[in-house]
Amino acid sequence: MELTLAPSRDNLASPAKETIREIFDAVAPRYDGINRLLSFHLDEGWRSRAGVGTGKFLGQFLKKQTWRLAAGIDFSGPMLGRARQSLPGDCRLVQADIHDIPFESEAFDLVVSSFTLRSVKDRPRFFKEVRRALRPSGKAAFLCLTRPTSVLGRMLYAPYLKFYLPFIGGLISENRTAYQFLSQSIQNFPAPPEIGRELESAGFHTIQIRPLTFGISTLIQARK
Ligand SMILES: C[S@@+](CC[C@H](N)C(=O)[O-])C[C@H]1O[C@@H](n2cnc3c(N)ncnc32)[C@H](O)[C@@H]1O
Repeated sequence: MELTLAPSRDNLASPAKETIREIFDAVAPRYDGINRLLSFHLDEGWRSRAGVGTGKFLGQFLKKQTWRLAAGIDFSGPMLGRARQSLPGDCRLVQADIHDIPFESEAFDLVVSSFTLRSVKDRPRFFKEVRRALRPSGKAAFLCLTRPTSVLGRMLYAPYLKFYLPFIGGLISENRTAYQFLSQSIQNFPAPPEIGRELESAGFHTIQIRPLTFGISTLIQARK
């Protein structure tokens, strides 16, 4: 499905929230398969280290440990529909905007998000919400698609990011807009140390930044 974007919404490095939701609604049915292909199966490994999307990331957590309450939030109905099929029935799935986490304060020991920070329009507000939802000394973990730090890595990664990703992703998904957004939002995403500073400003401490696979993905962890 191809999206038609209104002229005011066509900045795909940082599109409007509604455009982002439309993109994920449209790609939901083939999201996991295309991810695997585009990341050469690396996405599975990245997730195992750390919006709920189709639920794969949360599912891995639930397999490893039993939690009293597990919840996933996403504003895309089709993404949540996929998640419902794969997650245990007692896992709460809520359709909501993560800028306003619909849970009471100090409800969670751990808040995780994978590959979602690029879509967040107001990171200070989101981080404040994550902190509010965490119990004292609770942990937040953000798995992000980033860019290699070494010059050689950047040179090798640039053609993949700028050409392969939008072209192959667009071709297979038949949704060029979604994969242009993926490519441009990674190109424009702040370097992880900057995210670390933002987390500090939001009141987090013990910030750990761990690059994965030469820095094309990064796990950022912080304590309340
Ligand atoms: C790139 S997908 C990642 C999905 C999943 N976490 C994974 O690891 O595959 C980003 C998800 O975040 C959701 N999302 C983006 N912005 C959001 C917002 N403001 N509120 C709620 N969900 C949001 C999208 O609908 C999408 O399902």
